[in-house]
Amino acid sequence: PRRVFSAFQASGRLTLGNYLGAILPAVRLQDEAACVYAVADLHALTVRHDPAHLRARTREVATLLLASGLDRSPLYLQSRVPAHTELSYLMESTAHDGEMRRMIQFKEKSAAQEEVRLSLLTYPALMAADILLHRADLVPVGEDQRQHLELTRDLALRFNRRYGETFVVPEAVHPETAARVMDLAVPTAKMSKSAVSEAGTVYLLDPPADIRRKIMRAVTDSGSGVRHDPAAKPGVSNLLVILAACSGRPVASLSYGSYGALKKDTAEAVIEALTPVRERFAVLSADPAELDRLLAAAAARVIEETSGLMAAARRAIGLG
Ligand code: TYM
Repeated sequence: PRRVFSAFQASGRLTLGNYLGAILPAVRLQDEAACVYAVADLHALTVRHDPAHLRARTREVATLLLASGLDRSPLYLQSRVPAHTELSYLMESTAHDGEMRRMIQFKEKSAAQEEVRLSLLTYPALMAADILLHRADLVPVGEDQRQHLELTRDLALRFNRRYGETFVVPEAVHPETAARVMDLAVPTAKMSKSAVSEAGTVYLLDPPADIRRKIMRAVTDSGSGVRHDPAAKPGVSNLLVILAACSGRPVASLSYGSYGALKKDTAEAVIEALTPVRERFAVLSADPAELDRLLAAAAARVIEETSGLMAAARRAIGLG
């Protein structure tokens, strides 16, 4: 079977964008491929953070991933498998600094800060290591990770060419709809964990009343026609995409006479999609020891299953 890997940063509360863009596709891939998933806690160290907060978020993200249905594959914490950081160094020694500086996410995130952690620059090397460590064929991610995936492919190809066939060259898989869910209040910006305003971001644990309020107040566009046209009608198009992805109906099949009716149906579809996740989250949260056991077992399995690849990578590059 094909191998799948993806990871989710522990830097904030998971959003509807994470859910539709990556979590749901990752859940579905479990039916047809050998999947492994991780909480990328190391990636959360690339910007200013609070240790206690990070630890709590890490648990929350892990529990939410399980509650969303990523419960049929090993799920572990990136920091518990030291091979990630080791392989990341080999990737840093394969990549060039210009490649890292060209990353859109680095440019955006570094521009907003006075002090930029070095790990923010080298982040894509760690992400490449995550993926290559698992010899993943497929990586379900949202559109915003496209550039990082392309760099991962470049690094794998370069390493293989220089040192001999070692890594599988992975492919990104983006969902047909909802590869880029936009902010409800600012529909020209991506819905994001680090959103400046919370009004435009639906979090997976939002109670139904909050979801309804945020969607009913979503910024729509001037004029009244409901049609999918992201350039001219970003707000309406975003709602159509969200509704389609939550209800499993194609965007083209959705037809509405008013913005109000579209918002109402979208709100109900999102609530219907997220209610079981919120309920399972509550159940799973009641047993933190079980979460610890599950994460530890998955990490042990990953350490064992990746030791061969790590040995091959060390040997190829001339270590030992
Ligand atoms: P992160 O944690 O920011 O986001 C997790 C996943 O959610 C997707 N996503 C979205 N999809 C659609 N619309 C949105 N508005 C939206 N916002 C986020 C992201 O594309 C991602 O798939 N670097 C990664 C985490 C990571 C990773 C990996 C992913 C670390 N190592 C290895 C894949 C493979 C990140 O920051 O995603």
